[in-house]
Amino acid sequence: MLDQESGMPEDWTWPELKLPELLFTGTVRELHAAIENEWDTLRRSACQTAAGRALWKHVVHDPIAELLAGETYLRSFYDKIKKDRLNNAREVSGVILAVRTLWFDSKLEVALNSFDGGEAQVVFLGAGMDARAYRLSCLKDSKVFEVDFPEVLQMKTTILQAAAESTNEHQSPMMTAKSLSRVAADIRDNDWLEKLQISGFVPEKNTVWILEGILYYLSHSHAMEVLKIIADYCTLTRTVLLADFMNKPSTTLSNSVFHFYSDWPDHLLPPLGFSDVKLSQIGDPDAHFGLLHDPLNLFNKLRSLPRTLQTHPEDGKPCCRLYLVQASGSPDQTIP
Ligand SMILES: C[S@@+](CC[C@H](N)C(=O)[O-])C[C@H]1O[C@@H](n2cnc3c(N)ncnc32)[C@H](O)[C@@H]1O
Repeated sequence: MLDQESGMPEDWTWPELKLPELLFTGTVRELHAAIENEWDTLRRSACQTAAGRALWKHVVHDPIAELLAGETYLRSFYDKIKKDRLNNAREVSGVILAVRTLWFDSKLEVALNSFDGGEAQVVFLGAGMDARAYRLSCLKDSKVFEVDFPEVLQMKTTILQAAAESTNEHQSPMMTAKSLSRVAADIRDNDWLEKLQISGFVPEKNTVWILEGILYYLSHSHAMEVLKIIADYCTLTRTVLLADFMNKPSTTLSNSVFHFYSDWPDHLLPPLGFSDVKLSQIGDPDAHFGLLHDPLNLFNKLRSLPRTLQTHPEDGKPCCRLYLVQASGSPDQTIP
């Protein structure tokens, strides 16, 4: 029998929080203190996401997530998980992050395989503390580009360097991607593409664009501009977009932080230039990874309701959905 919330055998217990020694070395500790004191909510969301991945390590293999998340975010996320477990919650905090991570991992691998050979490019917009360049073997022939604010990428590099200096070589994270370039840019500005190209991005090469946990932080016009820029590449080369979209009710979870939403990303993307668009919801067959067995959990209940509904007919609560979307296009599919 499997435990309903963790997807693990029923006698399995959630591991106690055991922080790696690396987090307590002087430099790493100071760097994380600077994140807490100097970064705004938007930038700090990078560490919160990494904390979620680190605490779901029984399903997500991310060996540097703890280091990049830092003690404070790990502790507060762990407390939420503990509370949910004590309350026998149907959804344990972070399950949505775990499913989202595994969905992006699997779709990225399928997309790269679909290019049948040759070097590909993978661009992470709003990369934050993502560590796929260190943990996914499917990236071995790909050039990876991580785009985020300068201070986020600088901090990530410095933390990784500090950790490498305080461990022996064999314990330092090994890169699994062919190459990794960090591109410091604000994707609301109109020079981010230029910066990407200066870093070695080649517009004519097959590319997978990863927009994970980023679109809803942008205004409607900025998000649409970014999507349009990516869609335009479909006329030039094989292009795959993997992105998560909040629907309108989800943005009300934090009005000051979330802005862009789409209730129908599957209708929004084709007119921009994508020829093939597939949408999944958390809990769908390709988006549960054995973690959402309970038919009465929030996600499974939502999936059974028409997407047109904005409030739940039973309790009047907003129907907060996260859509996982893959869209693609290539010059041979583009209608002239
Ligand atoms: C929730 S985190 C997600 C990080 C990463 N994609 C992941 O899933 O772990 C959002 C990230 O988007 C970045 N971000 C938000 N707005 C941005 C912008 N206008 N330009 C560049 N990066 C941005 C933040 O700095 C943060 O690292």
